[in-house]
Amino acid sequence: MYASLKSIGSYVPEKIMTNKDFEKIVDTSDEWIEQRTGIKERRIATADQATSDLGAKAAEKAIQRAGINKDEIDLVICATLSPDHLCMPSTACLISDKVGIRNCMAFDVAAACSGFVYMLSIAKAFIESGAKKNILLVGAEKISSLVDYTDRGTCILFGDGAGAAIIGVTEDKNEAIIDIHASADGKYSDLLITPGCGSKYPCRADNVDDKLQYIKMAGNEVFKVAVRTLTKDVVDILKTNGITSDDIDLFVPHQANLRIIEAVRNKLNFPKEKTVFTVGKYGNTSAASIPMAINDAYEAGRLKKGDLMLLDTFGGGFTWASGLVRFGGD
Ligand code: UT7
Repeated sequence: MYASLKSIGSYVPEKIMTNKDFEKIVDTSDEWIEQRTGIKERRIATADQATSDLGAKAAEKAIQRAGINKDEIDLVICATLSPDHLCMPSTACLISDKVGIRNCMAFDVAAACSGFVYMLSIAKAFIESGAKKNILLVGAEKISSLVDYTDRGTCILFGDGAGAAIIGVTEDKNEAIIDIHASADGKYSDLLITPGCGSKYPCRADNVDDKLQYIKMAGNEVFKVAVRTLTKDVVDILKTNGITSDDIDLFVPHQANLRIIEAVRNKLNFPKEKTVFTVGKYGNTSAASIPMAINDAYEAGRLKKGDLMLLDTFGGGFTWASGLVRFGGD
């Protein structure tokens, strides 16, 4: 019995924020942003949309495409770094309620941008052990709520959006999640961090005045570790499974920066045609980035049943993960 990625869906808010819009609020330029990041525009949620609203819309699409009833879903997991509420309830609980899924286990995963691939690893274990049969995974982010729009080093990078998948059971290895490698190293935690509004720097006026509730990133240092780690991660998972980049149908990297994607792609010799690029239109959507990219490929007709995807992601923690996943959907 194998775990299989049966369907994919995504949702992005309507409002588009372009690089030109940033020229009006920080000292930057359209040229700088595009050259250094590949980002042209990103989506921004409305004030009354929370992360769970974006996640619920993506989830509805994934459920409908899987062709299952909501009452067949026996586990809901949400990966996010921008939960609706800091402690409770979990965003997974809120998404379950909005979608109409009752009486099943629901919880959040905190692994920053690596969240979706971490969830695949958890879902694979639940399915292969026989404990669950239909798992809804949602990567959803309203990162605009955590961004300091006076910090030009971070504000231009992020966008809002959500992606979702149904992981089910298959007996056919040609539709299975083959392998997931997931890892972390907390010694780098200060390089990419939202310091405030947790137990260390509670949501007090002084901490908020110091802007500790916003994302802080040592961008250039993160960049170097990201390229090194993502490349090694891909080499390792291919080697462990005895396959080469030629066997991969679709390379789906985390969409943080086009230069990072290109560095990894060139080192491993993945052709452009086999790589998914969404960073230009959505920016970095953290835990939503990988499922949104898979959905983009699916809707463009680039992903068929049985195709072998290579997923690769890196984020705050630091956390990183790669996955070899055969698409099990129609
Ligand atoms: O998803 C989790 C993982 N996240 C990532 O992987 C993101 C990794 N980091 C990056 O994508 C890049 O480091 C950035 C896009 C954030 C920055 O690009 P960079 O080439 O590493 O630039 P830098 O940080 O070395 O800064 C170069 C210069 C600096 O000016 P000085 O000190 O040389 O005068 C910055 O102040 O660029 C300046 N700068 C900007 N200039 C115009 C930084 N942000 C901007 C900006 N517009 N928005």
